[in-house]
Amino acid sequence: MLKKHELVEKILLNTKIINTKIIELANEVNSYYKDNKEPIILIGILKGCLPFLSQFMLNLNIDCLVDFMYVESYLGQTKAVSKPKIKVDVINDVRGRDLLIVEDIIDSGNSLFKIRNHLQELGAKSIKIITLLDKKSKRVVDIEVDWYGFEVPDHFLVGYGLDYDEKLRNLPYVGIADLSKIAILEKNKKNSK
Ligand code: IMP
Ligand code: MG
Repeated sequence: MLKKHELVEKILLNTKIINTKIIELANEVNSYYKDNKEPIILIGILKGCLPFLSQFMLNLNIDCLVDFMYVESYLGQTKAVSKPKIKVDVINDVRGRDLLIVEDIIDSGNSLFKIRNHLQELGAKSIKIITLLDKKSKRVVDIEVDWYGFEVPDHFLVGYGLDYDEKLRNLPYVGIADLSKIAILEKNKKNSK
């Protein structure tokens, strides 16, 4: 039995369910790009993309390159900032290339909106988006997701790349965070400052 982390209230998606879904997603992406002449470029959005991207790319049988961007959209704990900032840009020349943005989760859509516009300005030929999780109910900007693994409810989620204050990304499952325990941690942190 998988041991639940103490800050996790409930396991939402276990490793097996996630891995099965990633294989399905990779198959769809494989067939979509099967006739591509040039390798596509996977653009992983750090740091949450890491577990998903690694599992996903191992199931791709098309030619691909891997690149990364780092966008700051969370201020430390559990609150989003409305204006995400690009902190690390792609290394490859993306002009005229087919890009696939790989995300862990889409919430408001603000980060992806910014990322997509930026990659468009750099001259990408096509931009598609794949995300493991989609909090559809939270969307505030108009952004189309091409492939998603699971639609998830509006809870603060951790694990499989998703963090609370940079921790818990390494949990091999997606869990709903225990907000009452997190509130106690935050209070203690404030008091010790
Ligand atoms: P958006 O800009 O609101 O769509 O937020 C996107 C980013 O916020 C994601 O790439 C995640 O890094 C982070 N995020 C959104 N929801 C959660 C969550 O429930 N737990 C942890 N991180 C989240
Ligand atoms: Mg992310």
